[in-house]
Amino acid sequence: MKNNTLTDDTLKILIIGANGFLGTNLLRFKEEYETSENQFHFVTADISNSNINPKMPFYHIDITNADDAVKKIINISPDITLLTAAMTDVDECEVNKELAKKINTEGPQNVIKACQTADSKLIFMSTDFVFDGTKKEGLYNETDTPNPLSFYAKTKYDAELAIINSNLDYLICRTAVLYGWNKSKLNFITWILKKLELDEPISIVTTQINSPTFVKNLAEIILKLIEKEATGIYHTAGDGAINRYEMAIHCADVFNLNKSLISPLASLKQQAVRPKNAGLDISKLKTLLGSELKVYSLDDGLQYMKTHSI
Ligand SMILES: NC(=O)c1ccc[n+]([C@@H]2O[C@H](COP(=O)([O-])OP(=O)(O)OC[C@H]3O[C@@H](n4cnc5c(N)ncnc54)[C@H](OP(=O)(O)O)[C@@H]3O)[C@@H](O)[C@H]2O)c1
Repeated sequence: MKNNTLTDDTLKILIIGANGFLGTNLLRFKEEYETSENQFHFVTADISNSNINPKMPFYHIDITNADDAVKKIINISPDITLLTAAMTDVDECEVNKELAKKINTEGPQNVIKACQTADSKLIFMSTDFVFDGTKKEGLYNETDTPNPLSFYAKTKYDAELAIINSNLDYLICRTAVLYGWNKSKLNFITWILKKLELDEPISIVTTQINSPTFVKNLAEIILKLIEKEATGIYHTAGDGAINRYEMAIHCADVFNLNKSLISPLASLKQQAVRPKNAGLDISKLKTLLGSELKVYSLDDGLQYMKTHSI
């Protein structure tokens, strides 16, 4: 760890994208992760801080603004830079390719430069969509070769490659279908719940399989990986792979909503092509976590949501 004003036990972690869904969850449950041995000092950055407690140290950093972003990150001098910022609307990335490349590939390249000068470890959030979904048997593990289908997936994979080919100490976490309560934006699960509560019929595809990931659990997992000084690539997704239609049925079951409103759909026309079976194998993660932390299945996450309002 580098010598800064914090005590030797305290890691200075800069979260870029802290105002987003994962970022706010990393901040929200901070106290739960801290022990006497592990103290995390979070510094936040994003384009806006509307969801961030004003008491948190915040920097306006646009990762596409190379000079300004690099200068600010070097000045902050983090031990760890956790990059959650991205253009995450997969269909919008297909339409606005120039912007997607700027944010999702060139942005991380700027962050790499800053981390090299600041001697900071880089943790990057990536996606199950780096795979093409055609694997015949089993789920995708970390040694499988990516083959992105959509432009979003290509920009994220290009960022992965830039990180892997840098000389940085890095951790790449591939995750999938984040869900949980979120005041700012609906996610797949909260959208399903909203529709069913409004008694509106919905048609959901049976042909897209993913590993839905409870955002609070992902935040805990990332901090545990930091504590364990994990490096390389990890699949950090929920436990189990399930198709979108089945996900919706689980929502109805757990929340006692009317599942007859949900119809199966064989295909859905979307701007960006999705992989058919992008379920992630999380054995490597489970081995590292041992009995210290449970990886949530979809039902675990839904049960948590049912009994908690955040
Ligand atoms: N959500 C999922 O289901 C999912 C699945 C797989 C992988 N991931 C990956 O996980 C990460 C976190 O996802 P999330 O759901 O937390 O995303 P999110 O809620 O969209 O948060 C991303 C944050 O990055 C900010 N941002 C966008 N462009 C930026 C820029 N140029 N400079 C600095 N900040 C910028 C966004 O600000 P604005 O909102 O103002 O644009 C937003 O606050 C992403 O890297 C994503 O690719 C997510």
